Amino acid sequence: MQLQSSLTGRDLLTLGELSGEEFATLLATGLELKRGWKRGRRPKPLADMTLAMIFEKQSLRTRSTFDIAMMQLGGHSVLLSQNFIGIGVRETIRDVAKNLERWVDGIMARTYGHDTLVELAEHACVPVINGLSDLVHPCQLLADYLTLYEEFGSLEGLKITYVGDGNNVCNSHLLAAMHAGTSLTVACPEGFDPDPNLLAKVLASGADVTITRDPREAAHGADILYTDVWVSMGQEEEAQTRRSAFAGYTITPDWLEDLSHRGIFMHDLPAHYGEECVEETIYHPRSRVFDQAENRLHAHKAVLALLLSDGVRS
Ligand code: CP
Ligand code: NVA
Repeated sequence: MQLQSSLTGRDLLTLGELSGEEFATLLATGLELKRGWKRGRRPKPLADMTLAMIFEKQSLRTRSTFDIAMMQLGGHSVLLSQNFIGIGVRETIRDVAKNLERWVDGIMARTYGHDTLVELAEHACVPVINGLSDLVHPCQLLADYLTLYEEFGSLEGLKITYVGDGNNVCNSHLLAAMHAGTSLTVACPEGFDPDPNLLAKVLASGADVTITRDPREAAHGADILYTDVWVSMGQEEEAQTRRSAFAGYTITPDWLEDLSHRGIFMHDLPAHYGEECVEETIYHPRSRVFDQAENRLHAHKAVLALLLSDGVRS
C-alpha cells in the first residue's frame, strides 16, 4: 500500500482542498484497508502515533471510529472533550494548538465554528482533520462515497438526491459531487439552501448540481435518496421554526418505492424520527445507513494513514 502521497502531512478541513485524484485515492485506500482487514492483512503504519480528538459537540460514530481506526493502525487516541479543555474559553485556540503539536501526530476536531478548525490548523504543525463543523462534514462523505462504490461498483452516472436542510452534510455533498462527477439534486425550502460560496464554487467547476423546492419530484427516479436532521447540533433554539419550514419533507417508506430500480436510502445519523424521516425508512430493505456507519471506520483509517503516515509536516 502506497501511503506517501500528496496528502502526507496535510490538513483535511473541507473536501474542497482536495483534488479529484486525492479524493479518489482516499476512497481507494479506504476500500483496500477494509478488504485487507477482513482478510487478516493488518498493517500498522501509525505504530506509536497519537491522535488528539477534540469534541465541542456530542458524537457516537465519529468519536468511536477515529479511536478504533487509530488502534487498528497501531496508534492510539486521546479524547479531549470541551468540558475538559475549554478551547477558546479556558485558553486560546492558538495555545491549545501549540501545546498539542508537541505531543501528538495529528488532531481531529469537531467544532461549532469552522473558524476554530482553521485557526487550529494555522497554528498546529501536525495535520488537523475536520470531524464536523457547522460548515462541512468531510469525513462523513468519504464514508458515504465508499459505501456507494461498494453498492454500485462505480460512481459513474449516479443520481443523488439530498432532501432537507442545506447544512454541513449537504455542503459536503456538493464538494463530493464535484470531485466524483455524480449528479446531485438538493431539495430544500427557501431560506435553507446550502452555503452560497460553496455552491458557487462547485457550479463554477461545472458540477452537475441542481437546487429545487420539490422534494417528492426530486426523489423520483433517484439512485440515492439522502437526508439529514432539520435541527443540527447548536440549532436547538430554532427547532420550532425549522419543524414548520420543513413540513412535507419527512421521508416515509412510500418515497423509497419511487426511487430508481437500484435506489437506496442514506442518512448520516443520528436520526430525529418523525422529522426528516420515520424509523421504518432507516430499517427499510433499501436503507444503507448502517453500512455508512460501518464505513466511517474504514474511511477514517484511510484519512489517518495518508495524512499522518510520516507524522510531522514541515
Ligand atoms: N454521522 C456522525 O457524524 O455521527 P456522530 O455525530 O455520532 O459522530
Ligand atoms: N447536521 C448534523 C450532522 C450530525 C452528524 C449536525 O450538525 O448536527
